Amino acid sequence: MADSDQDTVNDPLRVAVIGLGYFGARHAQVYATHPAAKLVAVCDVDAALGERVAAETGAAAYADFAAMLARGDVDAVSVCMPDRLHEEAAVAVAGADKAMLLEKPLAHEAAAARRIVQAVEAAGTRLMVGHILRFDPRYVQVYEASAPEAIGEIVHVRAERTGIRATAARLGARTSILFYMGVHDIDAMQWVARSRIAQVFARKREVLGTGNEDSLFAVVTFENGAIGAIAYSWAWPDGLTNGYRAALEIVGTRSAAYMTCADQGFYTVGDTSISGGDTHLWPSINGRIVGDLADEIDHFIRATRSGAPYVQAYAEALDAIPVLDALARSAESGQPVEVDRG
Ligand SMILES: NC(=O)c1ccc[n+]([C@@H]2O[C@H](COP(=O)([O-])OP(=O)(O)OC[C@H]3O[C@@H](n4cnc5c(N)ncnc54)[C@H](O)[C@@H]3O)[C@@H](O)[C@H]2O)c1
Repeated sequence: MADSDQDTVNDPLRVAVIGLGYFGARHAQVYATHPAAKLVAVCDVDAALGERVAAETGAAAYADFAAMLARGDVDAVSVCMPDRLHEEAAVAVAGADKAMLLEKPLAHEAAAARRIVQAVEAAGTRLMVGHILRFDPRYVQVYEASAPEAIGEIVHVRAERTGIRATAARLGARTSILFYMGVHDIDAMQWVARSRIAQVFARKREVLGTGNEDSLFAVVTFENGAIGAIAYSWAWPDGLTNGYRAALEIVGTRSAAYMTCADQGFYTVGDTSISGGDTHLWPSINGRIVGDLADEIDHFIRATRSGAPYVQAYAEALDAIPVLDALARSAESGQPVEVDRG
């Protein structure tokens, strides 16, 4: 039977969400309205938050993920904990033999990422990492347009991701510009280049006092010889329309492709102000979250139920993490750093 909004399937994937903050609450909403999923449990150490999301979605609330994972009726789990805390929950989910949608980055450092992958492989469970750009129509079309037969030899890849100070201040030292934002572009660059980053040289500035990097720029070299440039910033004033901008370009000997999302095509205007709205990431439209996040979770549900491969093998998500380690080391030392993939 084809899944549709009208047809709730008889054997839905029974799912749970760990971490119900900014993103986990959205995962929970998407599952709660998906016809092929049933949200059975949600968990957050903030018990009041857990109770609230449970009341909104009809799931059972837990404050301890070990107790939640002991339930016999959970098939799959989204892990939406802060970046630095992924390992403990991810290893527990794998150990409990559940399929897992683990928010990006796989982990905040390569050693932890490898331990998560080892736990998944030891348990023989399934893992998808939430690299949402793999579901963004613009990024996917850059990937398709940069097939070797179309683009020729790659000359360069360039990525930009710009956010606002309020985001950096909200997240503070819980994360880093590298693993909260940067991993998106590292994954996208290696994906479209069909090659891994081998060496990096980074510089950063920290003057705004948000507890996070303000800007971090890097020049990188790929294993296939292409060069790349990355510009990350959380230094923009909070008035930046939509709160972020991103871009990706790839230039080859035969053709080039690029995307930009400086403009999402919707604005509200006051006498002295203009602001934008989300038209593609996770907007709530007609009572349902739609866009890239909904497509990512829809894919996770369908592929987990059918046994089909996830669009991204977790090995590619793992490949991004040592690049983050190298960027951090280069930004600290001021020296070029080789990516260490163990
Ligand atoms: N794909 C994207 O575009 C995107 C966007 C935002 C966030 N994310 C990712 O989602 C994850 C969560 O980010 P966020 O912004 O929602 O963070 P957040 O800080 O808003 O939420 C994290 C939640 O986890 C809870 N938590 C902490 N320890 C816990 C524990 N032991 N058990 C249960 N709950 C616990 C916290 O109480 C909090 O509610 C991060 O990995 C982040 O990188 C991805």
